[in-house]
Amino acid sequence: MKPEFQWANAELSARYNVTPLTPAFRVDPQFEADVLEGLDDDQKHIPSIWLYDRRGSELFEEITEVAEYYPTRTETRLLAGLAPELESEIGGVHSLVEIGSGSSRKTRLLLAALGSLGRYVPVDISSDFLRAAAAGLARDFPSLSVQPVVADFTQPFALPSAGRDAVDSAGNLGFFPGSTIGNFTPDAAVALMAQLGRTLGPRSRLLIGVDTTQDPALLIPAYDDAAGVTAEFNLNLLDRINRELEGAFDRRDFRHLARHDPHQGRIEMHLVSRRAHEVRVRGRTFAFAEGETIHTENCYKYSPGQFLRMAHAAQWRCERSWQDGGRTGFTVYLLRREA
Ligand code: AVJ
Repeated sequence: MKPEFQWANAELSARYNVTPLTPAFRVDPQFEADVLEGLDDDQKHIPSIWLYDRRGSELFEEITEVAEYYPTRTETRLLAGLAPELESEIGGVHSLVEIGSGSSRKTRLLLAALGSLGRYVPVDISSDFLRAAAAGLARDFPSLSVQPVVADFTQPFALPSAGRDAVDSAGNLGFFPGSTIGNFTPDAAVALMAQLGRTLGPRSRLLIGVDTTQDPALLIPAYDDAAGVTAEFNLNLLDRINRELEGAFDRRDFRHLARHDPHQGRIEMHLVSRRAHEVRVRGRTFAFAEGETIHTENCYKYSPGQFLRMAHAAQWRCERSWQDGGRTGFTVYLLRREA
């Protein structure tokens, strides 16, 4: 029987620096290092990538459906509008490479519209979430070759070799939706886009969703929804530390905070300690003052000008863009790699 899809990792982990499939019980040593270092800093912080364990990925999917969270809905509308024009805009596409693919829900719009597509390579750090999403896609698009890669896309990763499916004249299309680029500081965003250009290769394009909204009346509810799904998403990080790093956090000692910083143009998520107390993690003790926070996420809302300057610095040129006509300013850009 033909397997539903082919894991690229066994082949790749031998040849390149990508994370092999990790059994659920193994703890990523980088998670431990990031938590122990981050909790030791004056402003405690943990990189937002660690929000996405299986439970975190599920909670993020729930966030995309809450009424106040406008980005997913807005971007999906833009993608539905542009998908039918995409193929004639760029010519053939060899591989669609999705960065931080999650549930791959929005991808279906593109897969249905890209007749020339040879394969789909979803890249995500959450291996069991990726497995489920890839299996669903392979079922629904039987003629498509689905080759998932488990990787932290902030580190260089390699695409599985194209083999004899390769269409020489067509480049790869990177798909980086959801304004995930907003999780990166300007410098890190430029470095990431440059690295993606190298990974995607000659003649590649990048379809990237960027939220530019700065209106706090939209932003704060979107990151602190009334049903508390975002709060749960944030607090799940403490549960993960307890589970994977022998942590002793009591989530009742913390509350979720979404804060808008208009000068940096970003929303920040924090976990605020409700009282002065100490918490042990992996045999070490961390002291919290009342009101002290752990900074868990930045969501930059890059303006079109700022985003395009960053893209240029990373050797990408803008071919087209589609902006939301409503209140949000969410924009999808089609970038073309220089040279
Ligand atoms: C997955 C980074 C796009 O910034 O809107 C949603 C993450 N955090 N609610 C975002 C997130 C809190 C989301 N991204």
